[in-house]
This record gives sequence, C-alpha cells and structure tokens, in this order.
Amino acid sequence: MAGLFITFEGGEGAGKSTQVKRLGEQLQARGREVVLTREPGGSPGAEAIRKLLVEGAASRWDGITEALLHTAARRDHLVKTVWPALEAGKIVISDRFVDSTVAYQGYGHGIDQAVLGALYRAAAGDFRPHLTVIIDVPLDVGLKRAAGRGGAEDRYEGMDRSFHERLRQGFLSLAAAEPARCKIIDGTRGADQVHADVMAVVAPLLV
Ligand SMILES: Nc1ncnc2c1ncn2[C@@H]1O[C@H](COP(=O)(O)OP(=O)(O)OP(=O)(O)O)[C@@H](O)[C@H]1O
Ligand SMILES: [Mg+2]
Repeated sequence: MAGLFITFEGGEGAGKSTQVKRLGEQLQARGREVVLTREPGGSPGAEAIRKLLVEGAASRWDGITEALLHTAARRDHLVKTVWPALEAGKIVISDRFVDSTVAYQGYGHGIDQAVLGALYRAAAGDFRPHLTVIIDVPLDVGLKRAAGRGGAEDRYEGMDRSFHERLRQGFLSLAAAEPARCKIIDGTRGADQVHADVMAVVAPLLV
C-alpha cells in the first residue's frame, strides 16, 4: 500500500489532538495530501460507535465489551477511510489507534494481550502504522489539561487513578517492545517544542 500511516498515542490530555493538527498543517504546507482522522471514529459507522464508548458512566461497559466495540469501529475506520486514502498515496494521521486498545483495555482493564492481538488481526490483518508517536506526560498534567477540554466525551477520564497509571506504563512498555515503530516524546514542554520533536521523527519517512 502506498501512502504513510502515522498514529498518535498517549493518555488523556497529553496533547495528541494539538500535535495531529500541527503535523497535518506542516505536511500540507509542504505540498503533501493529508487526511486527519481519529479513533474511536474516523468513518460514519465508527463515529456512531465512538459515542457509545466515550460518553456515559465509566462502568457502562466492561473491558472485553470495550475491546469488541473498539475493534468493530477500527475495522470500519480502516475499510472506509484509512485504506482507501493510503491506496491513493495520501498521508493519514490518526489521533489514537490500536496502541490505545493495548494500553486501555490491556494494561488498564487487564484484558489478555493475546485476545487483543487476535481481535486486532481480525480487523486489520498484518497492517501496522509506519510510525507511532507516543506523547508522554505525568498523570496530573494530562488530567488537568483534559479537564479543561469540557464536553460529554469524558467516560475514560472518569476511570480511577490507578487505571490511568497503568495505561501510562502500558504505553511506555509497548513502545519499548517496538522501538522502530514507536517514538516516545516528552509532552510536558510547550506545544512548539513538542511539534519540533514530532517533525524530527517524521522527517526520515518523508523522502
Ligand atoms: N504542550 C502543551 N503544553 C500546554 N498545553 C497544551 C500542550 N498541548 C496541548 N495543550 C492543551 O492541553 C489541552 C489538551 O490538549 P489536546 O486536546 O491536544 O490533548 P489530547 O491528548 O488530544 O487530549 P484527549 O485525550 O482529551 O483527547 C488543550 O487545551 C491544549 O490546548
Ligand atoms: Mg484529543
């Protein structure tokens, strides 16, 4: 498949959406065709599933139900949005992707990683992002930034503190296991500096 698939990961309020937008603008300014998308969501069907996942009480779904809903949304997102854009040679940038499922449902809720791996393969086969940027911030920094965001999409934010601790460690562990694909960036600095670090890891892919 032609094109380039870049994903952004990290906990609540890490600065993912800010950096997705900045990277998109930068690549467009360089004349690239860019599609910005997100998970859960990114296609009409997956956006409908998103509402089920990100709104309502934290206890609304258990871990395996969440994993199944995220997988259904991911399949639709890939088929309807990501793969057609990559076939057309575009750069697709997604605000969250499979590593969030590994972190939230795996490290957060304790769902077996082998089960999550099987679900991912059912949805995506052996397709993987070319690059995954993980923005890391301490819990309190992220939750404080996310609280300022407002809106109804606060279901995951409402999980307890130990859940958020586990998922932060989860992102760091999964990055350590796949250092060629996953790059960790310190998200505590200003957005301009974080963007510069993002450009440094994206640049080698732009040849
Ligand atoms: N490097 C930064 N320094 C300070 N504030 C930032 C930085 N990056 C983003 N912010 C601010 O923090 C808030 C959360 O940022 P953003 O929405 O990009 O995070 P996110 O990771 O997408 O969060 P969520 O998990 O809630 O989707 C926003 O108000 C944003 O303007
Ligand atoms: Mg966001």
